[in-house]
Amino acid sequence: MRSGHLSIIQNLWATEPCAKAFWSQQELPPYRRLLADTIAWADPKAGERWLDLGCGRGVLAQSIWEKSEGRVAQVIGVDCAAVNADHFQRLRGRLGPVSLDRLRFVRHNFNEGLNLFADGTFHHAVSGLSISYADSLDTASGAWTTAAYDRLLAEVARVLAPGGRFVFSVNVPEPSWAKVGFRSLTGIFRCRRPLRYLVDSWRMLRYGRWLKQEARRGRFHFLPWQTVTAKLQAAGFAEIEHRLSYAGQAYVFRARKPVPTEAADAW
Ligand SMILES: C[S@@+](CC[C@H](N)C(=O)[O-])C[C@H]1O[C@@H](n2cnc3c(N)ncnc32)[C@H](O)[C@@H]1O
Repeated sequence: MRSGHLSIIQNLWATEPCAKAFWSQQELPPYRRLLADTIAWADPKAGERWLDLGCGRGVLAQSIWEKSEGRVAQVIGVDCAAVNADHFQRLRGRLGPVSLDRLRFVRHNFNEGLNLFADGTFHHAVSGLSISYADSLDTASGAWTTAAYDRLLAEVARVLAPGGRFVFSVNVPEPSWAKVGFRSLTGIFRCRRPLRYLVDSWRMLRYGRWLKQEARRGRFHFLPWQTVTAKLQAAGFAEIEHRLSYAGQAYVFRARKPVPTEAADAW
């Protein structure tokens, strides 16, 4: 991992070592809890089209697929790290085979919005510990802003069909990785490769330090739930709920894109 001045401007998420460091995150018991909480609120059904934002290796995409017993119409995972594409390819083989059209990885930097998708493309969207990393630098002042984060929420609202749910997790302000680590200790006894588990956990901790440092600078956004709620409202979402998960170090949010009144009346 490179650190120091370079990390101030470079987005390490797009690099292979950073992407790979989080591939075994799903083995941590607090992450398993977070995944279960997210999928319970997502509640995918047959025929639905889903977006997984900041999908990484596709753990949420896979869970959406499996929870619906392979009956969702489509899951598209979006992530800035190209190396995640290999995992989606393997996943398609393992789950089916499943066609590329139904389970696809798209390399894309969500700081730029979601202009590759038309309005109302998806029935619902999920995101696991990812949207906090939408970063935007105001070149005039040299200060980090929440412009990309705010735009991303508005973009999710745009690409959802009316009535669509956005279920996502974000870290709490000043998350304690030590608490996540402590609750993960039991995972060592259950995993098949304890040494790899320890090495991967150590790597995640190192990147975790970088994430917290950048959040303090205002680049990444570990926000109080009240702020996230206000931002979701500003982006046009309603029926906003949240709960704590991930050893108390992340919120899971569920919000809905309202159905326009005329359409709701017609039902
Ligand atoms: C903590 S990982 C979570 C991965 C996955 N959602 C999961 O639950 O396992 C954060 C993910 O956000 C992605 N990410 C960060 N910044 C991004 C950006 N600007 N555009 C697209 N993806 C981004 C990273 O590449 C990484 O895969």
